Amino acid sequence: MDASQLLSRRLLLVTGKGGVGKSTLAASLALAGSRLGRRTCLVEVEGRQAFSSIFSTAPWDFEEREFRPSLYGLSIDPEASLTEYLSMFYGAQRITKLVARTPAVEFATQAAPGIKDVLLIGKVKEMERRRRDDGQFEYDLIVVDAPPTGRIVNFLAAPDATTELVNVGPVRQQAQTVIDMLTDSSRTAVLLTTLLEEMPVTETADSIRDLTQLGVPLGPVLINRAVQPAMDDAALKHLAGMDREAVQRVLADLGIDDVDASTAEALLDTGHTHLGRLDLAERMRQRVADEIDLPSLELPFVADATRPEEIVTAIAATLEDRL
Ligand SMILES: Nc1ncnc2c1ncn2[C@@H]1O[C@H](COP(=O)(O)OP(=O)(O)OP(=O)(O)O)[C@@H](O)[C@H]1O
Ligand SMILES: [Mg+2]
Repeated sequence: MDASQLLSRRLLLVTGKGGVGKSTLAASLALAGSRLGRRTCLVEVEGRQAFSSIFSTAPWDFEEREFRPSLYGLSIDPEASLTEYLSMFYGAQRITKLVARTPAVEFATQAAPGIKDVLLIGKVKEMERRRRDDGQFEYDLIVVDAPPTGRIVNFLAAPDATTELVNVGPVRQQAQTVIDMLTDSSRTAVLLTTLLEEMPVTETADSIRDLTQLGVPLGPVLINRAVQPAMDDAALKHLAGMDREAVQRVLADLGIDDVDASTAEALLDTGHTHLGRLDLAERMRQRVADEIDLPSLELPFVADATRPEEIVTAIAATLEDRL
């Protein structure tokens, strides 16, 4: 799957090592999708209010709300999913109220670990299949800020585990339809987010092995915070060979001749740090090329933004160009 085909799947699950920018990229993908004309829903499953915070909205809950044009948001929690699920199947408000009041989810979790995950993904599947009155799918694009790589395999394997426990009835059927969605490469793609750093690249390569074994289709690897060269190749080469005196000479040529040694040293340091970052990024690009058999999509490090929404808007603009 080429990066340009990213929006051909209705369901994108964004994962990655903790802190690499999963929520930021999920929000950016959803924003880009909605701007490109897709009716889009951005979904949170861990109840951390990451998106209401990024987009400065009221807290999100189990009601889908349109918070930007054609862009909806939802925070799924297992309790609400269970209540909805039961009322869909048994239509009994009385029973579901009763269940909601008992620690049913806690009980179910102890009986079968992973049931929470099944309820969360089950809700995503309901959204992915839902149609409007005119027969069209409700959403063209659903972007899920999924659990991090450390938990993603258990999360996505939960429906499978359920079918092993339960052999008959609606629960088994429901789990099977979720598995069908998660393994269908025309509907779903899991997107791994990484940085051009050793640990995240290693974790990404490991996760690809596990997820491939699970049979879930993988989309392009999202390379976040990719540093861009601040100058052209010739200038970078020149910078690499400079010492403190050379910095002072260049500045003097520009008419700035009162720069003391420590300031020149600090400037040189900044330049060399930049070179070091570019060098690391280049080595990590090579590792990605050698160890990861998937296309990749680089997204810029947004240095000139202070608010998270500005970062998301800038990345979404890059995505709109590429998709
Ligand atoms: N491309 C970028 N440029 C600049 N800042 C970024 C970029 N991507 C992410 N950030 C910033 O990095 C921080 C971490 O990003 P984010 O919260 O999206 O990571 P995460 O993977 O969702 O973290 P967690 O594992 O805690 O859920 C945030 O402050 C975010 O604004
Ligand atoms: Mg996050």
